[in-house]
Amino acid sequence: MKKLFANRVLNNDTSDLDEIFKNSANPENISFAGGFPDIQLFPDDDLKQAYRDAIDADGQAIFQYASTAGPLALRQKLATRMQTHADVTASADEIMLTQGGQQAIDLVAKLLLNRGDSMVVEGPTYMGALAAFDTYEPTYYEVPVNKNGMDIKVLQQTLQAHPEIKLIYTVPDFHNPTGTTLSAKRRQAMVALANQYDVIILEDSPYRDLRYSGKSIPAIKHYDTEGRVIFISSFSKILSPALRTGWLVADPQLMTELIGLKSAIDVQSPNITLAAINSYLDHHDIDAHIATINQAYRIKRDAMLAALDKYFPKNITYTRPNGGFFIWVTLPQGTDAKTLLTDVVLPQAHVAYVPSACQFASRQVKNAFRLNFTSLDPETITRGIQQLGELLQPSPVQQTTTAAWVPHFN
Ligand SMILES: Cc1ncc(COP(=O)(O)O)c(C=O)c1O
Repeated sequence: MKKLFANRVLNNDTSDLDEIFKNSANPENISFAGGFPDIQLFPDDDLKQAYRDAIDADGQAIFQYASTAGPLALRQKLATRMQTHADVTASADEIMLTQGGQQAIDLVAKLLLNRGDSMVVEGPTYMGALAAFDTYEPTYYEVPVNKNGMDIKVLQQTLQAHPEIKLIYTVPDFHNPTGTTLSAKRRQAMVALANQYDVIILEDSPYRDLRYSGKSIPAIKHYDTEGRVIFISSFSKILSPALRTGWLVADPQLMTELIGLKSAIDVQSPNITLAAINSYLDHHDIDAHIATINQAYRIKRDAMLAALDKYFPKNITYTRPNGGFFIWVTLPQGTDAKTLLTDVVLPQAHVAYVPSACQFASRQVKNAFRLNFTSLDPETITRGIQQLGELLQPSPVQQTTTAAWVPHFN
């Protein structure tokens, strides 16, 4: 049967990841693998009410086909929000509702990438974006991420060496998977490089509003002078992923094509959900809700960092994010985080994480992993990190020698 499949799926082996998520769903294990919001924090009563209100207000019309871009009233609200929350001036016509940020990534890839076309991704990057891009069979150039986000010097060298590059994909705010944020200076520099080398930037920012410390930075699109930054975000992390609703902001020339592509795929996002979100924004204070979840997530982040500080050996490093969902842990060179997970960590510590290789387009970096801190309660986070940290302690012999570090397994 497989010989009938298109090339775009043949390279797409997700079986390793499927196995990890299957294991992490086992209630005996503490899973830091998924990128899930805390189920307790969904505003379920308000959302129920919003669906009811929307159906009452719109009557029969809510069950009809509607525009591909989404309801004008909701796009207007998002235009206002882009101004107040991202420093981006955009009209309602420059905004389209999508089925999650995930569909927006796919649409942009579909718009720009012929097979073999060149693009830049961060190393590491959001594995769901790689899954979307992979189906268009691009040539990837990986630019490393450090504590201020994508390394702009390497980006410049990459663009200079490969002038055929069309697209830069970046997660600038509380990056998935490292939690780091691109500095304002680098945002400006990235736009200048995109102008110089005639490249589109895809700014994917679903975690932007989830800030627990530090000051907000304007979106990359704020610095856009030539209409070449496409901004995407989502209600998944701030309301609920089950709404499957995100939005995309792009200049008119790009928007016309993107609407055409979305129309060809699904005609429109479910109208009832979009009307319910619009009603929610009319009758409930989404910023108060975000403040509530940020307070809870700050406590969880702090619990994870405190446990890492306490229980992890000093030769293991990790990021200290100001927001978002993730912490990135780097093990000593030569350690394979995936083998460690399946052979030792899951069976002995009963803890799951996402190993690094599948989060790199090159699949080459093996000695790191992603931890999620939003989905579990602080006590479970502390217990899980303690179990993991105790397992990763170097043995006494290794501590007193200069031999290469290997984890100490009982
Ligand atoms: C960086 C990033 N982009 C996009 C998405 C897609 O989210 P959704 O389609 O639920 O909006 C995610 C989800 O985890 C993400 O982390």
